[in-house]
Amino acid sequence: MADSTDKKAGPQITWGGRFSEPTDAFVARLNASVGFDQRLYAQDIAGSQAHARMLAAQGVISAEDAAAITAGLEAVKADIDAGDFDWSVALEDVHMNVEHRLTARIGAAGGRLHTARSRNDQVATDLRLWVLDFIDAQVLPRLDALQGVLIQAAEEHGQAILPGYTHLQRAQPVLLAHHLLAYVEMLDRDRGRFADCRRRAAESPLGCAALAGTPFPIDRAATAKALGFDRPAANSLDAVGDRDFAVEFASAASLCMVHLSRLSEELVVWSSQEFGFIELGDAFATGSSIMPQKKNPDIPELVRGKTGRVFGDLVALLTVLKGLPLAYNKDLQEDKEALFDAADTVRDSLEAMIRLLPATTWRADRMRAACDAGFVTATDVADYLANKGVPFREAHHVVGRLVGWCIAEQRPLTALTLAEFQRFHSAFAEDILRAVTVEASVAARTSQGGTAPLRVAEALAAAKARLAARHG
Ligand code: ARG
Repeated sequence: MADSTDKKAGPQITWGGRFSEPTDAFVARLNASVGFDQRLYAQDIAGSQAHARMLAAQGVISAEDAAAITAGLEAVKADIDAGDFDWSVALEDVHMNVEHRLTARIGAAGGRLHTARSRNDQVATDLRLWVLDFIDAQVLPRLDALQGVLIQAAEEHGQAILPGYTHLQRAQPVLLAHHLLAYVEMLDRDRGRFADCRRRAAESPLGCAALAGTPFPIDRAATAKALGFDRPAANSLDAVGDRDFAVEFASAASLCMVHLSRLSEELVVWSSQEFGFIELGDAFATGSSIMPQKKNPDIPELVRGKTGRVFGDLVALLTVLKGLPLAYNKDLQEDKEALFDAADTVRDSLEAMIRLLPATTWRADRMRAACDAGFVTATDVADYLANKGVPFREAHHVVGRLVGWCIAEQRPLTALTLAEFQRFHSAFAEDILRAVTVEASVAARTSQGGTAPLRVAEALAAAKARLAARHG
């Protein structure tokens, strides 16, 4: 690592000409980002190879030098892939570590690679490539997979009816499938946000050099295309100092975590003995070191807890950028740990849910019992009276008194006789006995987006079709 030869190696190969003293060892450590930005090596090498090929195509360096550089970088990449690479703190970051190793390998040609670029456009390029790849390879497939397991649960157990809640008070009965599909909708919006972030991230800063562009006759469109960007970024000052894409990623990740935290909270509550709506698989729960009876929902609790760190990453990124003068400032080196942490956390949290949901037992009996005990069809009784011509406000009042009486008598609404209903209003007829059931309540909610089995079946089919269209 940072031995004395290393300490000299940094300044010697880079800005040594201007300096007469080696970097202080503490400063070198504080200044170094290699501990975390080595994660960008594949993007860094791809960017350098595209740059070298373009320089040769433009006649800035020779074809032989470009060939030596690209092959040398391939060998450096193989070394890093194989774990055969001593990252040097004295060489500060991934960019200088890779370049130093390249030059050690191929000699003078390595020194030509940095023509017409700077670490400022280089790091901005690497980081954008990393975000694009992470969205494509890690986030979007997991959003699909999580939607897939939600849809599968909705298909298998979706006819179960549970109380829908407002204020965490039993409100109206809903199909479990309807409840699960609510999360599918949230994940659709998450997909849209990540895709939107991706669109703006897909601009190449390469060739903006330090801040002002370069006098060399470079072809930025060529490197942008070779690296899979949609286009070169328009303004060199903006491109080297812009980290909006990192903020947008952390913002999309934050909202995705909000959704996962809400799902987590429901899983925690539902797995409690008080609810008992689900039982988590043994492989996804933990025991207590002291209380033998415990089965704790640690995984959803952790996902709920990790939500906060992603918010923290978002605020850290925003704060790094706030008030920063153009163009590159070293503050920007602080972008990476927050970005990587947000990315790793949202990836792992999605993965946890993808694995946990299929291992969950859905207790339709318990859900149903909560409906029966919860006066969840009180609205239906009021709707019934309203349909018979009773003004809704009056109907509401009548049913309020009825529920109060039921609570005092400890009787569920579904156990009342017609005569008992009629004690509260003369408009009640035989058909109230059907209207008050949870099945009738759910079946009646046929409005668009409602919980009627027919509507939910349509929503399920639409969700499946959207998912299939992406994989078709
Ligand atoms: N390690 C640096 C970063 O992450 C690379 C860019 C350094 N540029 C500079 N002018 N010192 O931001």
